[in-house]
Amino acid sequence: MEHVPQELLQSFRPPAFHHSYFISFEGIEGSGKTTQIRLTKEFLEERNFRVLILREPGGTTFGEHLRQAVLSTTTQLHPLAEAYLFAASRAQLLHEVVMKELSIPNTVVICDRYLDSTLVYQGKARNLGHRLILEIHQHFPLNLTPHITFFLEIGLDTSRDRQRQRNSPKDYFEGQGEAFYRKLIEGYQEVRELFPDRICTLNGELVPDEVFALIQERLNALLKSDPSVEKDGKRS
Ligand code: TYD
Repeated sequence: MEHVPQELLQSFRPPAFHHSYFISFEGIEGSGKTTQIRLTKEFLEERNFRVLILREPGGTTFGEHLRQAVLSTTTQLHPLAEAYLFAASRAQLLHEVVMKELSIPNTVVICDRYLDSTLVYQGKARNLGHRLILEIHQHFPLNLTPHITFFLEIGLDTSRDRQRQRNSPKDYFEGQGEAFYRKLIEGYQEVRELFPDRICTLNGELVPDEVFALIQERLNALLKSDPSVEKDGKRS
């Protein structure tokens, strides 16, 4: 795997707000992110958190325009054009939404895809390298990471089967061939090695309830580490 300097990795950290959390979900198409995000939202709301779900690219008016531009394009974009478009959407999302929301106590911001998607899709599958992607993101606010990232890991066959069952029209990335998907799978394996403390890998081949039981365990551990949360998980 490509060498990434420690100093570069260390410039990435979660936002320092009290009593608020930033969580992301990652995985290839068909990994079950949508279901797990919904279950996580319900779980946290029962514990009196205000929960916001954002998607990348998107989440702001500007970001949704960029999303439309990338996902509906019929020409192959240069990998750097892709990387900077996703970074631009992310910078605006952090500035306009994430930072403001997290400054309100008892908030959880859940992001459907974040930095790791750029590391995997543009860094690995489009061959830009992880180091370049991290360099693009090393300045505030792009250097903010989630407190925890749930990576739902599935194999190529499962991804293909689940996409076939959905039978929805393919967007820019979904139309890519098998070699691209293999690189994504490999890319996620590499990225979790770069951020072993933040990225929690879950077996996305399990049934949704089993996957969520594992997420719940990690969420309970995260909430327990916050002294303002009482023993039953409810906020004081
Ligand atoms: P989306 O329809 O949200 O995909 P999914 O339902 O699988 O999450 O489309 C987002 C697509 O954009 C997805 O194929 C992954 C890709 N993407 C990147 O290539 N780089 C990025 O940084 C992000 C956030 C997404």
